[in-house]
Amino acid sequence: MTDLREKYLGLIANAGDEAALEDLRVQAVGKKGEISLQMRELGKMTPEERQAAGPKLNALKNEINSALAAKKEALADAALDERLRTEWLDVTLPSRQRPAGTIHPISQVTDEVTAIFADMGFSVAEGPQIESDWYNFDALNIPGHHPARAEMDTFYTHRAKGDDRPPHVLRTHTSPVQIRSMEANGAPIRVICPGRVYRADYDQTHTPMFHQVEGLALDKDISMANLKWVLEEFVKAFFEVDDVELRFRASHFPFTEPSAEVDIRCSWEGGTLKVGEGDDWLEILGSGMVHPKVIAAGGIDPDVYQGFAFGVGIDRIAMLKYGIPDLRAFFDSDLRWLRHYGFASLEQPNLAGGLSR
Ligand code: DAH
Repeated sequence: MTDLREKYLGLIANAGDEAALEDLRVQAVGKKGEISLQMRELGKMTPEERQAAGPKLNALKNEINSALAAKKEALADAALDERLRTEWLDVTLPSRQRPAGTIHPISQVTDEVTAIFADMGFSVAEGPQIESDWYNFDALNIPGHHPARAEMDTFYTHRAKGDDRPPHVLRTHTSPVQIRSMEANGAPIRVICPGRVYRADYDQTHTPMFHQVEGLALDKDISMANLKWVLEEFVKAFFEVDDVELRFRASHFPFTEPSAEVDIRCSWEGGTLKVGEGDDWLEILGSGMVHPKVIAAGGIDPDVYQGFAFGVGIDRIAMLKYGIPDLRAFFDSDLRWLRHYGFASLEQPNLAGGLSR
């Protein structure tokens, strides 16, 4: 029995892997193992012999089983150590190289505005930046003598000598895309038109090229109340706040009647803008009910259809939302500025995931 003990304890200690260990278990304590066979011999013994041999054999069997279990655990630990040693990973390595470029705040805000209005059923339309006098002015109820033409600091193109048709202009607003969209789609219509516009103006909040987004909704039963709701939803989503208060201030635009400028309640405490609280008002856009003449210019019967329109300065709301103090820097292509104010290039603004993560 002592021989068996020494033999198996030695073999177990030297077993190289779990398979060898399992072989040893079968050899020693398996059904036909050496120790099991000896236990069977107990039946043939005299009671006295059995009383002497039985407990010893049982103890041996237990000792071998414990040795097997301990060795099994040791082998598993060693296998794990070996895996940990060989299968290592440098978690400080970046998983993918970060793209060097960033999304410009104008693109970001355009995407944000588009996501918000898309959610309300508006599609996106674009028009040319070099526009005819008719689309930019006349169709929008701004006739030739109208002071709004002078107020807009329009850039005119040249006509050839002797050609006395009105010159084309760099569009001064995105409103002409209202007319083009009506012509292309008819009514009912719900559309936003983001894009570049041009005016001869240059200071901290004006650049000769800037961006607007126009909105237009026409149907048989659209009222100012629909305009207010849509703008409230827009402002809440854009500034990422739960509540806003809007104030409609009577105004004048040739292409809307009535016209209203829209202010939002805000505070500038500590120099940062907070929307939806405080005692200040911030003007953010112009809007109104589309003038019947404008609807007719778009080829739609104003006795059947009516609706609202609005125009927002993209650059302006970008400056407000992201605390950018000088508009001119938007277009300086200064890499340090772009890295500071730019947005992660692989994120797409959407209402579910968050607009400005
Ligand atoms: N086109 C106007 C501008 O550039 C903005 C505007 C105001 C657009 C009122 C609209 C509107 O559609 O209804 O200043």
